[in-house]
Amino acid sequence: IGRKVRYQRSVASTQPLAHEWAKEGAVEGSLFLAEEQVAGRGRMGRMWHSPTHSGIWMSLILRPQIPLNQAPQLTLLTSVAITRALRKQTGLNIRIKWPNDLLIDGKKICGILTELRGEQDQVHYVVQGIGINVNATESVWPEELKLIATSLAIEAGKTFSRPELIGAICGELEALYEGYLNHGFAPIRILWEQYATIIGQEITVRTGLHSVKGIAKGLAENGALLLETNTGVQTIYSSDIEV
Ligand code: BTN
Repeated sequence: IGRKVRYQRSVASTQPLAHEWAKEGAVEGSLFLAEEQVAGRGRMGRMWHSPTHSGIWMSLILRPQIPLNQAPQLTLLTSVAITRALRKQTGLNIRIKWPNDLLIDGKKICGILTELRGEQDQVHYVVQGIGINVNATESVWPEELKLIATSLAIEAGKTFSRPELIGAICGELEALYEGYLNHGFAPIRILWEQYATIIGQEITVRTGLHSVKGIAKGLAENGALLLETNTGVQTIYSSDIEV
């Protein structure tokens, strides 16, 4: 992972560029990196603030031979890999909020956007967008972000080398991904549950207009969230959750 890299200083978003590259036949593990995104994309149509020099903005191409309904596992795998790499490199207490936000003391330092193309019921390729606030100071963010976002530098009181962090992330990703292809999701699930913020807590899940309250029990074998509610255990695929 990360052996083939494309870099552009400024892009709208690395996501469509990685999709194009994947369609041209980019090998698994190819990484598209940018210094700045002027139209960075977040989940659920939100925008992702990606100012120059302050973060890691990259899209990773994977080609796992798995059925489409297992694709959520890849996001969880990447969350675990980034958590482990950043913990080792920074010593900060980074935790995962399901499905794919990385937080420090409740504030977001990393988001992951998984987009995939399928063929019949199989994954054709996956583009995982990874955004990490590394050396950002609060002054680069609009007011509304200051309450919910943080960066490694703000939390640690020092700056970090982005190439070193990227190297560490690629190393963890490669190890976990290889393990996943050979041994399946079970080992990742155990790691994920260790780093997750919500296990055993009461949460509210919003799915469109509805919301369901329950206790987060853990992950199902396919990576969905198991929620214990009044009416039994429900399986949650992807949505916003509130603790
Ligand atoms: C989220 O938490 O909403 C996901 C954010 C994902 C941001 C990354 S930055 C690199 C890649 N390119 C984008 O436009 N978005 C992802």
